[in-house]
Amino acid sequence: MAIDTKERKAPGVAPIQAKGTAPAFFSVYDIHAYYGESYIVQGVSFDIREGEILALLGRNGAGKTSTLRTLARLDNPELKHGEIWLDHQPLHDMQAHQAAKNGIGLVPEDRRIIPGLTVEENLILAQIEPPIGWSVERIYELFPRLGERRNQEGVTLSGGEQQMLAIGRALARDIKLLLLDEPYEGLAPVIVQEIEKTLENIKKLGITTIIVEQNAVAALHISDRAIIMDMGEVVFDGDAQEVLENEQLRHDYLAI
Ligand SMILES: Nc1ncnc2c1ncn2[C@@H]1O[C@H](COP(=O)(O)OP(=O)(O)OP(=O)(O)O)[C@@H](O)[C@H]1O
Ligand SMILES: [Mg+2]
Repeated sequence: MAIDTKERKAPGVAPIQAKGTAPAFFSVYDIHAYYGESYIVQGVSFDIREGEILALLGRNGAGKTSTLRTLARLDNPELKHGEIWLDHQPLHDMQAHQAAKNGIGLVPEDRRIIPGLTVEENLILAQIEPPIGWSVERIYELFPRLGERRNQEGVTLSGGEQQMLAIGRALARDIKLLLLDEPYEGLAPVIVQEIEKTLENIKKLGITTIIVEQNAVAALHISDRAIIMDMGEVVFDGDAQEVLENEQLRHDYLAI
């Protein structure tokens, strides 16, 4: 299991294509992030190729949400060192709204459905400014249930439907990288399977995804690769299948 990714690229320049490999589409290089004085993300590095699904795993408090927030360039935690490149764009120099314009789509754990608006209005509002992604009709093709409930208030949907709407809102923007924080949380297994199918369909369309999940086995089943975080650091970077097969690793870092 190779985890030393810190030497992969020189600081200050976009990642270079290594001989015989595809260039990294998304590259995170030695990022360090803080909530005030609290040092949380402690030198995380990893690469993703275009179209891959990466599972970002680890116990409670390992720093998964903080890492996603740093990648989306939210103010908290504050990125103090390191680089984040998406499709040759330096996200580390950007604020959240610029990172979003450059293709980062974060679906946070609380799903952020706007109260008082219908399903359709929630989707339309996501398209209020360019870059505009999928049409509302195309989102309904991916999630027929959202189409059936288009005139229903978004916050009255079931948990699974709200997750679909949250993903739909991300796709309504022209995204290059989808960041999902605990998309299966609180959902019945049959609904988890439905969302899994959708994520596989999204993958077929070439969208690159990072999925953070407590339900590690479910996340690993749809993922190509996995990284495991512990205490703000990456302790494993490899194939998703390898994590499923490595009992020791699962026991040490995932408690499954
Ligand atoms: N706003 C904040 N201010 C200060 N510390 C925070 C804040 N949010 C999270 N932390 C701390 O940062 C660490 C990592 O938290 P984070 O939420 O990133 O973990 P996580 O891996 O997503 O955990 P979980 O599986 O519980 O969602 C924890 O020690 C947490 O207490
Ligand atoms: Mg979290």
